[in-house]
Amino acid sequence: MKKTRVCVIFGGRSGEHEVSIVSATSVMNALDKSKYEVIPVGIAKSGRWIAGNNSVQLLKSGIEDTPFYAMLPADPNEQKLLPTTNSVEARQLDSLGEKFDVVFPVLHGPYGEDGTMQGLLELANLPYVGAGVLGSAVCMDKVVQKQLCVQAGVPVVKFLWMYYGDWQQAGMKLSNTAIPATPQQLSNLSQAEIITKIETELGLPVFVKPANMGSSVGITKAHERKELIHAIEEAAQYDHKILLEAAAPNAREIEVSVLGNTQPKASVPGEVIPSNEFYDYDAKYVDGASTLIIPAELPAELAAQIRETAIRGFLACSCEGMARVDFLLERQTNRFYLNEINTIPGFTQISMYPKLWEATGLSYSQLLDELIQLAIERHQRKNSLKTSYQPKKEWYK
Ligand SMILES: Nc1ncnc2c1ncn2[C@@H]1O[C@H](COP(=O)(O)OP(=O)(O)OP(=O)(O)O)[C@@H](O)[C@H]1O
Ligand SMILES: [Mg+2]
Repeated sequence: MKKTRVCVIFGGRSGEHEVSIVSATSVMNALDKSKYEVIPVGIAKSGRWIAGNNSVQLLKSGIEDTPFYAMLPADPNEQKLLPTTNSVEARQLDSLGEKFDVVFPVLHGPYGEDGTMQGLLELANLPYVGAGVLGSAVCMDKVVQKQLCVQAGVPVVKFLWMYYGDWQQAGMKLSNTAIPATPQQLSNLSQAEIITKIETELGLPVFVKPANMGSSVGITKAHERKELIHAIEEAAQYDHKILLEAAAPNAREIEVSVLGNTQPKASVPGEVIPSNEFYDYDAKYVDGASTLIIPAELPAELAAQIRETAIRGFLACSCEGMARVDFLLERQTNRFYLNEINTIPGFTQISMYPKLWEATGLSYSQLLDELIQLAIERHQRKNSLKTSYQPKKEWYK
């Protein structure tokens, strides 16, 4: 039986580069080698694509001077890696030269989980795992994600947002005639007015986030005004669009895994007990002291509501393939909010996404099989569409 050639892409120009390497290593190890031929491709922090079986090591070591540079052309007639150097070593790489059957982008954050990589794979006409261009882009942007959830009647916490440029202009007392896109946008205000609006409409503490990022990179929980101003500067290092959210009081962190294309299913919910005041980068990856409770201890009806809301959020944001949907659940009231949707969630053996499916009866390798099948199904569906139009007269000549 010809094996399915799976290209696994990892690393990337993102604050979550390291997380991606760990996730991808786990996926590559778990792919059934009797069914799949795995071709690793690492994207260095510089954006260089590095092919070959030692690409994980090269990325971890941060070595960029290697002959194994390669590129996936956007030309749908290629569908394989082409070396970008004339080095003999690159030309001898057996991973180059043969077409891929499917691509598994295990990239987190901007330039990988945000629709850009998905766009390249669409142009290359290759099947790929996970959300498409639109679902990836709207879920990476937490402001747009929240706006779509509000429109779909999916509960979210109160929020405001602004462009860092408007904050800076306000600081320089320059008049700002920006037309606010939505009622939640902070514009045409002085910095003092912005701060007052945040404090009155969202209260303190408030969460300040780069709109497009993940792994809690650039996120601050601001308890008072001074921290708030510092938090805006911190978030602005990662994105010029900044989201401000009311803190869900004394909230439990509930997560649900979703799997499928247009008729997705939801796993049992799980709970995260962060080791810090909130689930920041260190609590996620460094301290090793946060705990996961799977399944989460929830009344059955509440668990069902949260699962159903996860699917509604997934569909409202045009997701496909997979996503981990995170919720904040108020302890006192059992009121819950959809916090965010991650279209390429952490994928290590201990990550919530695969563990929730395991607890729902789908093993890690079965999950990988299903994700690859969903990718091929979507690609076949797309390839049945016309990509050209035959006008009755050649008016353009
Ligand atoms: N409005 C809020 N109220 C209470 N806690 C919050 C709120 N927003 C974020 N948090 C805390 O911050 C953490 C990170 O926030 P969020 O999930 O939005 O960021 P992220 O960078 O996309 O994380 P990841 O993609 O790794 O899940 C949450 O897990 C939670 O602990
Ligand atoms: Mg996220």
